[in-house]
Amino acid sequence: MKLKDKSPLSLLTVMVCGALLCCTAGQAVGEEYDEDIYGPEAPIIFVKPVKAVEFSHKVHTMEAGLDCDSCHDDLFEMEAGLAEQNDDFTMESLYAGQYCGACHDGDMAFASNKRCTACHIGVKGFERLHSDGGSTDSGH
Ligand code: HEC
Ligand code: HEC
Ligand code: HEC
Repeated sequence: MKLKDKSPLSLLTVMVCGALLCCTAGQAVGEEYDEDIYGPEAPIIFVKPVKAVEFSHKVHTMEAGLDCDSCHDDLFEMEAGLAEQNDDFTMESLYAGQYCGACHDGDMAFASNKRCTACHIGVKGFERLHSDGGSTDSGH
């Protein structure tokens, strides 16, 4: 950036304002979720072979700072419902470093053989998600 020899005070003002803007518009708490930047907002729910496992783009992109490339298209296609059609979408594969297990290996992210319920929301979690907004079919 080239600047004329102007008053250093006005330059400072510009810089301070810029920094303030940055803080309010940037990664601050309460940042709007932008699907163009972070991927689909709604969690992806796998129901095969077991019901149900939750995947959140927000956790991985906005919070953990991963690029789209770190999963697409080597580990996962950009289309929900494809991975779960594969017979090898199992814990054994995860433990062998495929799918989620490429990162959930206890090194880059928590291991796939730990914290089962971080990923597995179960049938109850599935029903909870699908009974939002006044659905009538779930008794409680
Ligand atoms: C940590 C892994 C990971 C990262 C990073 C990631 N995704 Fe995804 N994405 C997934 C998974 C898993 C699916 C579901 C694939 C499946 O079901 O086979 C998916 C599916 C999608 C889909 C399809 C959704 C639908 O309803 O069909 C889109 C669109 C998408 N991702 C966009 C993005 C974009 C854009 C980024 C980067 C900002 C991104 N993803 C980063 C894992 C990731
Ligand atoms: C490209 C690497 C990568 C892939 C692939 C990946 N994750 Fe993650 N995941 C991370 C990182 C990094 C974190 C944040 C650090 C941590 O929690 O260990 C994370 C965090 C999570 C969390 C948050 C746990 C919490 O503390 O709330 C869940 C749940 C999760 N991942 C599930 C999945 C599932 C399910 C898949 C596969 C569909 C998957 N991840 C694929 C890297 C990945
Ligand atoms: C990082 C996320 C993650 C963690 C942690 C995790 N799972 Fe899974 N699990 C998956 C995914 C993804 C699938 C395949 C999708 C589905 O079945 O809905 C799966 C499938 C399964 C299956 C059915 C397929 C098979 O391998 O038989 C069982 C059983 C299972 N998990 C048990 C567990 C147990 C027990 C733990 C804890 C020791 C655990 N999982 C931890 C993501 C995870």
